[in-house]
Amino acid sequence: EKVAVKQEDLKGIKILITAGPTREYFDPVRFISNRSSGKMGYKIAEAALERGAEVALISGPVSISPPEKLHLFHKVETAEEMKNKVNELFQWADVIIKAAAVSDYRPKHKSEHKIKKSDEEIVIELVKNPDILKELGEKKGEKILVGFAAETDLPEGNAREKLIKKNLDMIVLNDVTKQGAGFEVDTNIVKILYKSGKIEEFPLLSKKEVAHLILDRIKAILKERA
Ligand code: CTP
Ligand code: CA
Repeated sequence: EKVAVKQEDLKGIKILITAGPTREYFDPVRFISNRSSGKMGYKIAEAALERGAEVALISGPVSISPPEKLHLFHKVETAEEMKNKVNELFQWADVIIKAAAVSDYRPKHKSEHKIKKSDEEIVIELVKNPDILKELGEKKGEKILVGFAAETDLPEGNAREKLIKKNLDMIVLNDVTKQGAGFEVDTNIVKILYKSGKIEEFPLLSKKEVAHLILDRIKAILKERA
C-alpha cells in the first residue's frame, strides 16, 4: 500500500482517535460487543503520525498493535471507560475522530459471579449507553469533529441525520453490505458527508488510503479557518 506521503503537513495538530469495539459485561467473563476490528482507526493514527501530527489513540479491545510514537495510547473496554478517557483528552485535542464502534446498549445488571447454567431461560436486560460523540458535539467549540457511520439501510439519509444531530464537521459513511467495505477487511468503500451538504464518493481503497483522504479533508477545514 504505497501512498504519497505528505511530509509533516499536520505538524503541531493534535488528533484524538478512538477505535475498535467496546465490551459490555453482564458477568465477569461474558459481554456483548460487535465485529469492529479497529483497523480503520489504527490506520488513521498511523497516517496522522506519518504526517507529523501528535496522536492520542483510545482503543477498545482489538488484536492489532498500535503504531509507534503515539502521544498517548490507552486501552478501554466499556463505553463508559471510553467516554471518561475521551473527556479527559477533549481539551488537549484539536481534532477528534471517532472511528470506534461503541456499543449502544449495556446490560442493566452485571453479576459479580459467573452466571451458572440452569434449565431456565434467562433474559439480559439492556440499558442505553451514553452517546460519546453527541456529548462532544454539544461542547464542540472550535474543535473539528469527525464521525463514522456503518449503515446497511438508507445509508446517506442516516449518515446525514447523525452528522446534524451530533454537530459534526464530517461523517465517513461505509455501506457494510458492500463487498470490500466495513468489518475486518483491509479495504473500504466510503462516502464523506459534510456539514455544508456536500457528499464525496470514493472507489474501493485501502484503509490506509481512506485514512489519508480523511486527513486531507481535515487539513482543508483547518486551512479554511486559518
Ligand atoms: N458513537 C458514540 N457513542 C455511542 C454510539 C456512537 O460516540 N454510544 C459514535 C461512533 O463512534 C460513530 C458515530 O457515533 O462515530 C456514529 O455511530 P453509529 O453507531 O453509526 O450511530 P448511532 O448514533 O449509534 O446510531 P445507530 O447505531 O442507531 O445507527
Ligand atoms: Ca450505534
